[in-house]
Amino acid sequence: MSTDDFFSSASKGLDRKESLIHERQKSSFRLGVLISGSGSNLQALIDAIEDYQLPGVEIALVVSNKANAYGLQRALKHRLPAIYLPWSQRTVGAQFIAPNFITPESTMSESESRLTTLLHLFQVDLIVLAGWMRILSATFLEQFPQRVINIHPALLPDNGTGSIFTTRNGAQIPVFRGLHAVQQALDAGVKITGSCVHFVTPEVDAGPVICREEVAIEEGDTEETLHERLKVVEHRLIVKAVGGLKVLNEPG
Ligand code: GRF
Repeated sequence: MSTDDFFSSASKGLDRKESLIHERQKSSFRLGVLISGSGSNLQALIDAIEDYQLPGVEIALVVSNKANAYGLQRALKHRLPAIYLPWSQRTVGAQFIAPNFITPESTMSESESRLTTLLHLFQVDLIVLAGWMRILSATFLEQFPQRVINIHPALLPDNGTGSIFTTRNGAQIPVFRGLHAVQQALDAGVKITGSCVHFVTPEVDAGPVICREEVAIEEGDTEETLHERLKVVEHRLIVKAVGGLKVLNEPG
């Protein structure tokens, strides 16, 4: 083979490789699912993908900040790339690269920097916080605008902000945020709570809502029984939200 032939076939090979990569990126909407625990919402996504309810969606990566999160086992059982990423708040210090070149001190933690690298490496289109129990910094979120969503086991207003939610029957209930939203609803004695999927913003549990469903609180409900019923709803909502965002992100 002449040198010209070699370069021409090598470049054809590259073109083909690039177009294959492009094709894959174009045709699949890649999720990075972040978990800390049982991973039942991750399972809902896995099942929906395997049941062809989310055509063109794939789980590119599952990340857990807990080594013993059951969700990691779920991911491995379905042969999904799954990584345990220990989480610390230590920030990345300024780095000396060469004379006259020092990187600025990052406002991200070391763990967030590693997470960012992983999400880029696995070419993730949408980051799903599915029971992820760590707060992500504004700097991290800025890198993925409108690309990070969360499942919250309480009702948030449409734009995510404010302290009052009006239910479909007109009742006004407090907005419950944070780790104990299910228990807070029980403690407040409200008759209705629910779950929602929302975009993540730097303010915790206060981003615009993508979809939401109300759930009635029953006599004798405990945090466990109510949370179990909320999760059944969440499993529907997360599939709906991902399906909708996939369609929105389809080219022209
Ligand atoms: C869900 O209830 C979600 O609302 C909350 O964390 C829980 C995660 O459950 N953010 P799982 O790990 O998906 O079973």
